Amino acid sequence: MKDTSLFHKALTISLEEHPYIEDFLNSFGLDVEPGPNSLQQYLDNLDPDKLEDLGINYQQLCQSLNDFLAGMLTLKEPLDKVDSLTIIGGRDKSGNAENIDLVLKPGEVICIVGPTGSGKSRLLADIEWVAQGDTPTGRKILINNQVPDSKWRFSTEHKLVAQLSQNMNFVMDLSAEEFIRMHAESRLVTNPEEKVAQILKQANQLAGEMFHPDTPVTSLSGGQSRALMIADMAILSKSPIALIDEIENAGIDRKKALDLLVQEEKIILMATHDPILALMGDRRLVIKNGGINKLIESSEAERKNLKSLEELDNKLLALRNRIRSGETLEEI
Ligand SMILES: Nc1ncnc2c1ncn2[C@@H]1O[C@H](COP(=O)(O)OP(=O)(O)OP(=O)(O)O)[C@@H](O)[C@H]1O
Ligand SMILES: [Mg+2]
Repeated sequence: MKDTSLFHKALTISLEEHPYIEDFLNSFGLDVEPGPNSLQQYLDNLDPDKLEDLGINYQQLCQSLNDFLAGMLTLKEPLDKVDSLTIIGGRDKSGNAENIDLVLKPGEVICIVGPTGSGKSRLLADIEWVAQGDTPTGRKILINNQVPDSKWRFSTEHKLVAQLSQNMNFVMDLSAEEFIRMHAESRLVTNPEEKVAQILKQANQLAGEMFHPDTPVTSLSGGQSRALMIADMAILSKSPIALIDEIENAGIDRKKALDLLVQEEKIILMATHDPILALMGDRRLVIKNGGINKLIESSEAERKNLKSLEELDNKLLALRNRIRSGETLEEI
């Protein structure tokens, strides 16, 4: 694929829209500067002797630039916009029909509540897998009212869903900073260093205990790695749907974590046992025996109670900190 317009626009514009063109040319030892000439004119004006010194000829350079740009442009293709996510009910563990047809919209936070083992993680997994009646629940998931394109199900680049799972195992031996940089680079953001710094800063604000960017990811505490992944998800992920399986037990600032995620226009689904998080959602699904049993809209009265719950929670948090720092709680 040759994007001819890209080769014929003024370099000033091409370099601004596609800053990696400069990186590409620099990697061959060639300098390029913004200006009125087009990329094609720039290539045509290169001195053949200079190219020979650099170990490449005009044809090879044009070919590999073209291949490189084709690859980059495919990756940069914008995601199709997600306007709705529909969950078409299947059956609970006893085989009873769910009788639900639920439509979720961007900017919404939906909490999933229910006893341990009731099927909260299963519902998140159905969404991640974009189930089509092919999971134990028989649920079907539609995107924009349609069975989604298979690219959503199988492509790693066009990820429909970003998932924070209950169990996180880092297998790589990288520092927190290297790990995030790798993510930023693989997602082709234009200013990776800025994003990396932003993510590390946010993660440290969420985590109870600060960590240094050099800390190996394998040495981060549960809460710290959770905080890192939440900041990563909020700042880097372009996925229009975010699934979160339990953030409450991780010892991080839950409210800040959720606020950070809500800033982006995503559909957020969160499995939780935590009343504060549950009330922060717009709606909540109650799961019972593997099925969606009820849909509750957070009411005005509940929102009022959220305030006093938060005060209670802050008190508990302060007590927890006092215990951690070795104080006694004879007076509270
Ligand atoms: N509708 C269903 N039909 C058959 N199996 C189901 C159904 N829903 C859930 N299950 C199965 O029940 C088991 C427990 O479900 P799950 O892990 O989702 O529970 P959970 O609510 O996330 O529990 P916890 O709060 O402990 O994390 C899983 O093996 C899951 O696959
Ligand atoms: Mg679970």
